[in-house]
Amino acid sequence: MTNDALWYKDAIIYELPVKSFCDGNADGIGDFKGLHEKLDYLQALGVNCLWLLPFFPSPLKDDGYDIAAYTSVHPAYGTLDDFKAFLDAAHARGMRVVIELVLNHTSDQHPWFQRARSAPPGSPERDYYVWSDTDRRFEGVRIIFVDAERSNWTWDPVAQAYYWHRFFHHQPDLNYDNPAVVREMLAVLDFWLDMGVDGLRLDAVPYLVEREHTSCENLPETHALIKAIRRHVDAATPGRMLLAEANQLPADVRAYFGDGDECHMAYHFPVMPRIFMGLHAEDRQPIVDAMEQTPPIPENCQWALFLRNHDELTLEMVTDDERDYMYLAYSLDPQARLNLGIRRRLAPLVGNNRRRIELLNALLFSFPGTPIVYYGDEIGMGDNLYLGDRNGVRTPMQWTGDRNAGFSRADAARLYSPLITDPVYGYPAVNVEAEESDTASLLHWMRNMIRLRRQFKVFGRGTIEFLSPANRKVLAYVRRYRDDIILCVANLSRTVQPAELDLGAFDGMVPVEMLGYTEFPAIGSLPYFLTLGPYGFYWFELQRPGR
Ligand code: GLC
Ligand code: CA
Repeated sequence: MTNDALWYKDAIIYELPVKSFCDGNADGIGDFKGLHEKLDYLQALGVNCLWLLPFFPSPLKDDGYDIAAYTSVHPAYGTLDDFKAFLDAAHARGMRVVIELVLNHTSDQHPWFQRARSAPPGSPERDYYVWSDTDRRFEGVRIIFVDAERSNWTWDPVAQAYYWHRFFHHQPDLNYDNPAVVREMLAVLDFWLDMGVDGLRLDAVPYLVEREHTSCENLPETHALIKAIRRHVDAATPGRMLLAEANQLPADVRAYFGDGDECHMAYHFPVMPRIFMGLHAEDRQPIVDAMEQTPPIPENCQWALFLRNHDELTLEMVTDDERDYMYLAYSLDPQARLNLGIRRRLAPLVGNNRRRIELLNALLFSFPGTPIVYYGDEIGMGDNLYLGDRNGVRTPMQWTGDRNAGFSRADAARLYSPLITDPVYGYPAVNVEAEESDTASLLHWMRNMIRLRRQFKVFGRGTIEFLSPANRKVLAYVRRYRDDIILCVANLSRTVQPAELDLGAFDGMVPVEMLGYTEFPAIGSLPYFLTLGPYGFYWFELQRPGR
């Protein structure tokens, strides 16, 4: 692995739930042993950073985001030694590992909460969480899981008080006004970073601190706390990365980078839904607007880009009109809607249209930032809208067309989740083995794109400028880093489109198409003319003649 402190800028991240990836001991649940065995697959895919969803002891009422112990492994997934063996093996392959740090809340089964509810009011133990005699404190703070919760307060009969929770009622929020809580969490972070984990995803980070008469989101006290965490990490284990999960408006997300002294990375929540809007509208404007409204970020910081993840495609931070548009465009089946979002995987979202899938990934891999691929999306897996909550996008990875999709040797009835079995996306049709043997498969295409992207630092590190061809169905942008110049052109529409690009600034240069290494006619002083097939896209390296 490189020693470069900015390694996360050149990363391609693969997001996976250990539970869903591969079952190594035939009990129906994915585990570290299974994941370890699949590292060759991940290496061949070309990803160089793995982001693991929570794997800690948990009642699993929020798929492990309800943590009952922070420094061990859920027994179903293996032991701490299994984790370490996996971590070493990943490192040996040049892959970094990012894990979850759920700061905001614990499970109500965590010993801290069990102790707090029976401790006397005002005691340090009770003060690990946020309590109130009424459910009228912090009034007006929005509810996030609108389909599941009525209030951010729940009455605890043992404590004889209400406790605060921004997510499920079984996930009480920790009280960061209590210095003991801060110390506990720094110890958790040290535990994993000392073991060699390369980065931490700070889950639900805007909600750490509460204050009366505010939204209780993005408060200065919360930023001060994250800065303190960053100082601690930099002092103890420099080179490790903090990734903020802040699903907020652009200016509010930007704040999580601080002056380069807060989080190294943050998800680009604002641009994600606009990519889908631009595709459906066959119009580049939503995408260009979102990118141009993206505030500049400090040199040492990086956006994390994604199309889909383990949650619903969130529409919390778009306007009401945009949300209606997205619902209409991408979730005609109301069963696909959850909270303020759409619980579908990438392939079904775009009608299993291979060209659309490729186009979206081409944007993902060429926008400024570090791309994240959600497990299974590299083979075009489908979802199951009837599994409740977000479980429909967390079904077993489809390795083969054999029993249990090659995911597990357990009885099918024992699997943690049913497999996808429908005729279009079911494992007999969509699986790694079949796609490996088919050179025209999505998997081969993804491997190829990932390899190409990794050869050019400009994608992760360069600037972006948008061109404005008259045809708004065409999205064109130039990426630059040092001497490298790359021109990306994409057709957002279902039909063939012409594009006339003003490339005057590159007069005399030769565009070389990067997938085929094909030289195109040199750029002259007239507008550069291109034709793009349905959902077509080109990446050109602009070369000086004679190079
Ligand atoms: C984050 C996670 C989500 C979880 C929530 C509460 O938003 O991505 O899966 O339910 O935090 O922990
Ligand atoms: Ca298992």
